[in-house]
Amino acid sequence: MRVRIEPGARLHGDAAVPGDKSIAHRWLILATTASGPSRLLELPASLDVRSTASCLAAVTSHARPALQAWASNDGRGPEGRGSTWNGAIEVEGPNASPTALEVEGDGRAGLVEPQGPLWCGNSGTTMRLLTGVLAAAPFEARLAGDESLAARPMERVADPLRAMGAVVETVDGHAPVTVRGGALHGADVAPATPSAQVKGAVLLAGVAADGRTTVREPAPTRDHTERALRALGAPVSIGDVVSVTRFQHEGFSATVPGDPSSAAFLVAAAALTGSTLTLRDVGLNPTRVRYLEVMERMGVRTERRVEREELGEPVGDLHVFPADGIRPVRVEGPELPLVIDEVPVLALLAAHARGDSRFLEAGELQLKESDRLNGIAEGIRDLGGEAAAEGPDLVVAGGGLEGGMVDARSDHRMAMAFAVTALGARQAIEVEGMEHAAVSFPGFTRTLRALGARVEAVGG
Ligand code: S3P
Repeated sequence: MRVRIEPGARLHGDAAVPGDKSIAHRWLILATTASGPSRLLELPASLDVRSTASCLAAVTSHARPALQAWASNDGRGPEGRGSTWNGAIEVEGPNASPTALEVEGDGRAGLVEPQGPLWCGNSGTTMRLLTGVLAAAPFEARLAGDESLAARPMERVADPLRAMGAVVETVDGHAPVTVRGGALHGADVAPATPSAQVKGAVLLAGVAADGRTTVREPAPTRDHTERALRALGAPVSIGDVVSVTRFQHEGFSATVPGDPSSAAFLVAAAALTGSTLTLRDVGLNPTRVRYLEVMERMGVRTERRVEREELGEPVGDLHVFPADGIRPVRVEGPELPLVIDEVPVLALLAAHARGDSRFLEAGELQLKESDRLNGIAEGIRDLGGEAAAEGPDLVVAGGGLEGGMVDARSDHRMAMAFAVTALGARQAIEVEGMEHAAVSFPGFTRTLRALGARVEAVGG
């Protein structure tokens, strides 16, 4: 789907973003492996989360009907449901995916052998976290994914799980991943690359292992797995070194906070249009909102206030105030893993700054849903700006963008970053592949439009 975005419109109002994808994957896993019933609210209908739900459906019995029904509800149109309001709540279609899910968990011991491969779609988090869960299950499972996922590295998760006693096979380091799980023992793991997916997989295996499992991260990453485990009563220590021992949790009820990574696109949109915006019920976990500090260095003014906690996750409103020009920025070292998913939108914001911005040692961006390091640089050049990937560094020259046509490279975050940057361009921008936004932000263009942006589908 190609979408045309006109620059210059002022945005206004309140918006809600879909529930947090990272949290939803983890809470779905924890609900399915709990002893007893759980109730999850505001589950995002994003395609990645549905992949996790359908894989879990294939390895459970009591929880299967509810998970299957939720995962397969596809009556939402190509970009899914929106959850935006601007005065009035958007009316959902009759087949809109429900945001509530009740699941009857049988504990980890209740997991059953799947009848076929587990299809993880585009979702690296689904594949890596489930590899961790299945490492302790006494049967064989095979996890497969789309072309993009099949190109991403899987040894980083297979290796530590083997050290815990699981049999994990990859194909030259890639999917499909075959897991023959069983009795695990704790291990002391020091991943070479900071990764919350690897940490999460090892911890989910660690609660099923004999002895202590420890993860020593080279730099801090998002801590949703350990927060949820702690809130459920697990003996987990949190910090630079995370460790856990065996624990079987009970069912729970929780409301998924809005996804701060999705909110980042709307914050950037407000900054580029000199708008005031309020985003309600957003997750404000410090390991996820570091991008706000980067944006603050760029001159974007925001305010946030934690109002409540959901299963250990801080939640509250995020206010954005009109920015007075965008300043260049430098992102490097331990800050990078904490803003890894926001680099596309930060870089496309930096294209409008007065001066050069640098994202240093950012090679990990090449291993995401697309090669974002080169994709960002090429996309900016396609739109009449200047940017280059210099080895693992990304350099973005400011000065603004002309406009034109750009391809989303089948990558949800690239699609949304290009759409947002268009709001500050000199002429209209057309983004090819906008439908990929539904991987994490169903209803994205609808949300932008409801806030006042001029966005329309091109070619019917
Ligand atoms: C995620 C971790 C990050 C991030 C991804 C979601 C998670 O990946 O890029 O979108 O939910 O744990 P890595 O762990 O590979 O850095």
